[in-house]
Amino acid sequence: DSGVGGLSILDEALRQLPQHDYIYLADSANAPYGEKSSDWIAARSLSLCKHLASIGCDAIVVACNTATAEAIKQIRSEISIPIIGVEPGIKPAAMQSQNNIVGVLATEATLKSDKFNALLNTLPNDCHFIKQAGAGLVPMIESGQADSEDTLELLAKHLEPIQDAGADTLVLGCTHYPFLSKAIRKLLGESITLIDTSEAVVRQLKRQLESVNKHNHAQEFGSVVLLSSKDEDSLLLMAYDLMSADLTAHLVKARVLGEV
Ligand code: DGL
Repeated sequence: DSGVGGLSILDEALRQLPQHDYIYLADSANAPYGEKSSDWIAARSLSLCKHLASIGCDAIVVACNTATAEAIKQIRSEISIPIIGVEPGIKPAAMQSQNNIVGVLATEATLKSDKFNALLNTLPNDCHFIKQAGAGLVPMIESGQADSEDTLELLAKHLEPIQDAGADTLVLGCTHYPFLSKAIRKLLGESITLIDTSEAVVRQLKRQLESVNKHNHAQEFGSVVLLSSKDEDSLLLMAYDLMSADLTAHLVKARVLGEV
């Protein structure tokens, strides 16, 4: 991921598949990706994935909606191990919404991407989507302020059009946003359905590992290596802070990501 957002996917992976060894790569020196150009996001995502493949990963989860939208096709065409992407859950949202009004909170790059718009076009048009770019939210989460008053204020501004439209369902279209669930509930109440695809993404990871015979492991708990392009100590602290998985059951190490 561009930073700590993909920890929401890692959290779910440790719950469903604790026996595997994980390398988590946070490109925090370059976050946020969501306001960068398509070409930049595609090139950077591809070189990071090549790095992960070169150090021996059996599969890669592109735990970022923005990188998936801009780069997954190219990554899959250049790397031969299973590559699992994440996309905003607009399809499950359309199925679960009772009033057919669905909010989608994602990065600007994701909302503008061809991939997202192609996905949107596959859905029946009786569901109304209110798309909102969450500008500024990722840097707040990256700086450890997911629960701060300033974040709540910014989030309230972004959620206003979604709330005004009467959405009963909200798609968390960026892997950073599950860490705002508490703040979102504070603003929108308990009745709104929040759609987070991490569970489905990890189920897909399991299927893909099975398909290449890499799923079985003798160990109960694997290791977790956290790589950061910015500050490995703060990534480690954030992981303990943001994740609900019991990290103490795993051997956890944090390292700096060198030149990639
Ligand atoms: N977590 C990312 C996503 O899912 C990217 C956020 C960003 O860097 O803008 O889209």
